[in-house]
Amino acid sequence: MSALGVAGDARPVLITGGAGFIGANVADRLAAAGERVIVYDNLSRDGVSRNLAWLRARHGDRIEVEIADVRDGARVARAVERAGHVFHFAAQVAVTTSLVDPLDDFDVNGRGTLNVLSAVRQASDPPSLLFTSTNKVYGALADVPLEPRAGRYVPFKPDLREDGVAEDAALDFYSPYGCSKGCADQYVLDHARIYGLRTCVFRMSCIYGPRQLGTEDQGWVAHFVRRALAGETISIYGNGLQVRDALFVEDLVDAMQLARRGLAQRRANVVGQAFNIGGGPPHAVSLLELLERIAAALGSRPELKFGPWRPGDQRYYVSNTGKFRKATGWSARVGLDEGLERLVAALRGDEGLEQQASPRAASAGGLEAAVR
Ligand SMILES: NC(=O)c1ccc[n+]([C@@H]2O[C@H](COP(=O)([O-])OP(=O)(O)OC[C@H]3O[C@@H](n4cnc5c(N)ncnc54)[C@H](O)[C@@H]3O)[C@@H](O)[C@H]2O)c1
Repeated sequence: MSALGVAGDARPVLITGGAGFIGANVADRLAAAGERVIVYDNLSRDGVSRNLAWLRARHGDRIEVEIADVRDGARVARAVERAGHVFHFAAQVAVTTSLVDPLDDFDVNGRGTLNVLSAVRQASDPPSLLFTSTNKVYGALADVPLEPRAGRYVPFKPDLREDGVAEDAALDFYSPYGCSKGCADQYVLDHARIYGLRTCVFRMSCIYGPRQLGTEDQGWVAHFVRRALAGETISIYGNGLQVRDALFVEDLVDAMQLARRGLAQRRANVVGQAFNIGGGPPHAVSLLELLERIAAALGSRPELKFGPWRPGDQRYYVSNTGKFRKATGWSARVGLDEGLERLVAALRGDEGLEQQASPRAASAGGLEAAVR
């Protein structure tokens, strides 16, 4: 028998992209609490089958696996029909790859999301849905005045410095990936408005932690740690002063469970809402600062190579998570040093996880390509 879970629904939870980094962490949390999970994934990301094997070994038949594509509307509809909640994570996740093949990027992120939404809308008892969007929907934020100060960019405006970027920042889809995710983000919100579905959107910045398959294209914290562990040179595009707010995946899973409960309870401050989700100002770090911390954690300093800035890169992005905190009481708890320590332990295999070999990047991007 399946546990009711935070939403009080005994139906399984469907996770598209459930074999990926965030999906595997969410699936693990749910299955550990006795819930049944349908992992729906086409295994297109290099190395994710290891996450799947790990989930099955830990949870047996609480993890049901559907090797399928979100572009296959009929398969999506069959899986959605059985679900009490949908975490829609499956995506083409890298800006770099989206530049190489924007049509494919749109097919997966735009049309794939519309497939999932249509299945939810047409289900006999529509499940709730949480979609993972991105800070890239706010574009390059090039008009934000910044000054370089002690290893990082610092915004001039005190409210931005203290609180970060809020959801009322202007949408400015940048790059094919920004456009396809932004389009999906808007469809998800509109489906709450126009069809009365219980959906919400997380606009996430930089998530990191165990099970992350970081490459140069996406997942830069794990990518840095892997390269540093292997004694390999790390490429930085720009000057390394660019700032992101890092969020440990366990804190993200907490936030997702709170959102799921809010959707189940049809709370107006969750349904149809977009939330900026990241570590926020307390977990903001520049690339150079992060590399310092990694060096301290490993006891050795990686070699750095600098390249030119890339178009569209955000010099400063830190999430203002106040709206979500107000709606649910959530805040990030795991500090950067602890999170890094746990990531390093996972990548070294100290937590009984197999050492994950460095997965292949889909294109020859550099670090700035990875800072998404
Ligand atoms: N990790 C981050 O820092 C971050 C930041 C912002 C947004 N996001 C978003 O969060 C979600 C999860 O990201 P992640 O870091 O876990 O990525 P991931 O690449 O580890 O996981 C994505 C999963 O989706 C699967 N997938 C890809 N295309 C598919 C398709 N057509 N059909 C079915 N499955 C498919 C992949 O095989 C993979 O297992 C994505 O939507 C991503 O855009 C992540």
